Amino acid sequence: MTTEEKIERSETRLFKAVFPNTTNHYDTLFGGTAMQLMDEVAFITATRFSRQRMVTVSSDRIDFKKPIPGGTIIELIGKVAYLGKTSVKVRVDIFIEQMYSEQREKAVSGEFTFVAIDEHKKPVKIDR
Ligand SMILES: CC(C)(COP(=O)(O)OP(=O)(O)OC[C@H]1O[C@@H](n2cnc3c(N)ncnc32)[C@H](O)[C@@H]1OP(=O)(O)O)[C@@H](O)C(=O)NCCC(=O)NCCS
Repeated sequence: MTTEEKIERSETRLFKAVFPNTTNHYDTLFGGTAMQLMDEVAFITATRFSRQRMVTVSSDRIDFKKPIPGGTIIELIGKVAYLGKTSVKVRVDIFIEQMYSEQREKAVSGEFTFVAIDEHKKPVKIDR
């Protein structure tokens, strides 16, 4: 399999309903919850790409462009954006989807870097 095919295959999607247990007092998705979901999707993407033990080493800037109202559906999409020697950078976007129409828009974007580690927790080369 080529690296491009591996990147394509490891693209990871997660849907969630924005119910009241994830919102703040503005009735929009709490930013910390969004970040946790993004890190999880990014981790799964990196792991599905490499099939190696991965740890988060850094999170790059996260842009919250639109508030995410309660009562909507969100889709998180993780995709490998950059491959280093032992590290991989994953971009995660969150889209808002209305429940009762096809309307959809991008709300949040961010990047997370993971390092592949061996059994001694030391960085190892990523198989590509
Ligand atoms: C991840 C870890 C093993 C890396 O060890 P390290 O000694 O810093 O590794 P190195 O300096 O050899 O760097 C390894 C790779 O990580 C990258 N890296 C290290 N720090 C980074 C940072 N802050 N941002 C982006 N990339 C970083 C390096 O560029 C290198 O990438 P490359 O091999 O693709 O060129 C170590 O920092 C660690 O264990 N951190 C804790 C991870 C963890 O517990 N995460 C869970 C969140 S609490």
